[in-house]
Amino acid sequence: MKTIACCLVIFLSVSVVLIYGESRQWGRRVSGDRLLDYALVLNNSLPVPEKSSIYRYLPAVGSFRPPNITAIYARDNVPAGKGGYAGIVSGGVNQSNVTLKLTSKPYQRFNFTIEVYGK
Ligand SMILES: *[C@@H]1O[C@H](CO)[C@@H](O)[C@H](O)[C@H]1NC(C)=O
Ligand SMILES: *[C@@H]1O[C@H](CO)[C@@H](O)[C@H](O)[C@H]1NC(C)=O
Ligand SMILES: *[C@@H]1O[C@H](CO)[C@@H](O)[C@H](O)[C@H]1NC(C)=O
Ligand SMILES: *[C@@H]1O[C@H](CO)[C@@H](O)[C@H](O)[C@H]1NC(C)=O
Ligand SMILES: *[C@@H]1O[C@H](CO)[C@@H](O)[C@H](O)[C@H]1NC(C)=O
Repeated sequence: MKTIACCLVIFLSVSVVLIYGESRQWGRRVSGDRLLDYALVLNNSLPVPEKSSIYRYLPAVGSFRPPNITAIYARDNVPAGKGGYAGIVSGGVNQSNVTLKLTSKPYQRFNFTIEVYGK
């Protein structure tokens, strides 16, 4: 019984990934946090095998106490998993800045919505 339930969970997770592409999340929202930055990152450039873009969130210059990042969302807007892959290059949750690298699948475009929350 346990094995069946386990297989079902794996199957459902795989289906979700296939339907929604490679959307990713780091950390989670906490009460009192707010949207620090929102960006649409896309790359439609002509057929180069692998397209990539760098997204960087830095706190405003000279801010007295830079907000501490609580959650980062990278939502893939291209359906059926044809979009890209998002990964953290530096910074992240519990830090004041984050750099993400977005990469396409070969000969595909990508279109990501990035949201950074912090408090
Ligand atoms: C799209 O990807 C190509 C190949 O990596 C890169 O040269 C180009 O600068 C990217 N364009 C944008 C808008 O990021
Ligand atoms: C990227 O995705 C957003 C949200 O779904 C959509 O509004 C926008 O038109 C898309 N842009 C391109 C160039 O596909
Ligand atoms: C961030 O800090 C919180 C509170 O100390 C902790 O629960 C969480 O695991 C940390 N997350 C990361 C990715 O370091
Ligand atoms: C962010 O919060 C975590 C957990 O409370 C803490 O360990 C970390 O030092 C904080 N970082 C900054 C840049 O304030
Ligand atoms: C990002 O924040 C860390 C501390 O959380 C700091 O050491 C680093 O220099 C910052 N990077 C940039 C590019 O500001």
